[in-house]
Amino acid sequence: MPDSPPNWQFTLLAPVYDWLMVLRPRGKFPEWNLPAAPGVLDLGGGTGRSLEAAVEPANFAEKVVLDLNRAMLRQGQRRRNYDFVAGDARRLPFADGSFDLVLACDSLHHIGDPDDVFAELNRILTKGGAVFIEEFNPQGLSGKIAKLGEYALGMKSHFLVPEQLKDIARANNFKIESFEVTSLYQRLLGYL
Ligand SMILES: C[S@@+](CC[C@H](N)C(=O)[O-])C[C@H]1O[C@@H](n2cnc3c(N)ncnc32)[C@H](O)[C@@H]1O
Repeated sequence: MPDSPPNWQFTLLAPVYDWLMVLRPRGKFPEWNLPAAPGVLDLGGGTGRSLEAAVEPANFAEKVVLDLNRAMLRQGQRRRNYDFVAGDARRLPFADGSFDLVLACDSLHHIGDPDDVFAELNRILTKGGAVFIEEFNPQGLSGKIAKLGEYALGMKSHFLVPEQLKDIARANNFKIESFEVTSLYQRLLGYL
């Protein structure tokens, strides 16, 4: 497994990250009908803003945000009452079957190595557990602009086209419940 991609950009962005993301507001994702479950993990969750937007926190007894970047985690700790864990999404520091729902919003292309990430999802999710993935759509016009923006910032992002994301999910035993593609995003909800 190669080393993690350079992550200094998020160290610089961390203090202003949540403010910048006001430009990309999230609703509560109601249309996704995310299952209420005992344990939810926000993978590459940074400051935890997607976890806050995606779920009704009251529905989850255990709310964990894992990220490689400690500056992002520190910002999250100041604002949100979740468990913030430093770690690599490709080698998760959790026991088998630890979570019922994993969110990965705008993180998979930063993490890279999707096969390793999906192998870990398989391991740490309970049977019947769900994954919600939101990624830029590198084939849409808005997604192409976002992609250029990340390259301009020197990020070593690895984008998947929608067919690749679906194929990887299926190859790793996820049943795709919903899949949506817009000019900017692709969103997948799958169950083990
Ligand atoms: C664009 S941010 C998204 C943060 C959050 N999910 C959100 O929606 O605001 C991408 C995050 O992925 C994290 N990341 C990159 N590589 C990672 C890895 N190997 N393991 C865990 N997190 C990683 C970065 O540190 C960064 O916080």
